[in-house]
Amino acid sequence: MNKVVDYINSNTDNYINELKDFLRIQSISTSPEHRNDMIKGATFVADSLKEAGMKKVKVIKTKGHPLVYAEWLEAPDKPTVLVYGHYDVQPVDPIELWNSPPFEPVIKNGKIYARGATDDKGQMYMHVKSVEAFLKNGGKLPLNVKFLIEGEEEVGSNNLDLFVDKNRELLKCDTVLISDTALYAPGIPTITYGLRGLAYIEVEVTGPNRDLHSGTFGGTVANPINILAEMISMLIDKHGRITIPGFYDDVKKISKKERENIKALKFSEQKYAKSIGVKKLIGEKNYSTLERSWVRPSLDCNGIIGGFTEKGAKTVLPSKATAKISMRLVPNQDPEKIAKLFKKYIFQIAPKTVSVKASNIHGANPILIPTNVKSIVAASTAMSKVFGKKTVFMREGGSIPIVATFLNKLKAPPVLMGFGLNTENLHSPNEHFNLNHFHLGILSSAYFFSEYSKG
Ligand code: BES
Ligand code: MN
Ligand code: MN
Repeated sequence: MNKVVDYINSNTDNYINELKDFLRIQSISTSPEHRNDMIKGATFVADSLKEAGMKKVKVIKTKGHPLVYAEWLEAPDKPTVLVYGHYDVQPVDPIELWNSPPFEPVIKNGKIYARGATDDKGQMYMHVKSVEAFLKNGGKLPLNVKFLIEGEEEVGSNNLDLFVDKNRELLKCDTVLISDTALYAPGIPTITYGLRGLAYIEVEVTGPNRDLHSGTFGGTVANPINILAEMISMLIDKHGRITIPGFYDDVKKISKKERENIKALKFSEQKYAKSIGVKKLIGEKNYSTLERSWVRPSLDCNGIIGGFTEKGAKTVLPSKATAKISMRLVPNQDPEKIAKLFKKYIFQIAPKTVSVKASNIHGANPILIPTNVKSIVAASTAMSKVFGKKTVFMREGGSIPIVATFLNKLKAPPVLMGFGLNTENLHSPNEHFNLNHFHLGILSSAYFFSEYSKG
């Protein structure tokens, strides 16, 4: 282990330069014009795994963006870890708010700025480097490792889901190691044991059969933007409860014990509000901010399109308006069932003056992971050793769609050992990753392999 640790410590600067090359690839999975960049992203991952000494490295085509698989299985009586991560990134808009171009990584105050730095290129790359440190110092890993890296996490992981279902033997493992979540706070080792799920729906409201002059027609015809805004505001009541009938039916109640554990984290709502620049927080009555984010469902309009949006004024009463609405789900809500309830209700509240269409974009299952399993205990010990502090357990409001599939289909508990921070602007301008956490992440990965191999 000493040699491995020395190797990691003395090579971190090289790793950062390699990571920069990875971050230059514009692998935005949702944009068709970036198809070739997605292939470049997968190829970069495959090449780095080969260079690290992994075997049977393959770029696998799917109906969407390619997957990367690799393995090293030369420790016959030891457990097998499947490392999962994603090389796709979110779009960069609004581009004018970036202080430096999103695909030209720069380092400032110990942080690397680029789209994908923390979510998830920087985090997944830590495991490539940890494996490399073992294989270049003695040629052996303390246990068996497989990699499965995808390019469609940010668009719902549908093709990966099919792949996992059809390749259970290939992917057979004892646990899945994932670094795609956050630390509770800087320098605090953290394991995430719950993720919210997701149902994402697009609602289109159509009024008149064409755009109309808002002077001639205004006040006589329903305006789809006004109607859509009204419908959206009806989805949450004044107590912060979602009004869709049946929405809460399957929500698992939070236990007293978990409430206490969350309280013990001593979260400052004031600091949180300040960090995001709001004067006051909102949310469902009788729940704390952490509970609202981790154990209660939520509903948000992520984008709204309609009418005249350029500079200046155009007097128009638009024909159409569209809203992109996400619902974050908690155990045991089912994304498909929730999508159905949503649609039923949205059609029900739509006035006769307009017509409404609703379509599912994607979904994810919520998940709760048992924490008393060997791999999570090993991860907790490993992180504690590296950070020199006790590991904290938390839940997360975001989603990673494939995690539930790993638990349910591969029957392997996922270890969510994340090194990002929720303040690192993921999905937003000026995304960055703390390079000290990058370094501690590589070490934690190596210590995890070593701890978990002890059985
Ligand atoms: N890495 C995130 C999930 C996450 C967010 C973990 C915040 C920890 C903190 C992941 O890449 C993500 O963004 N997931 C999407 C999934 C969706 C597009 C299906 C999400 O949660 O919006
Ligand atoms: Mn991610
Ligand atoms: Mn993401």
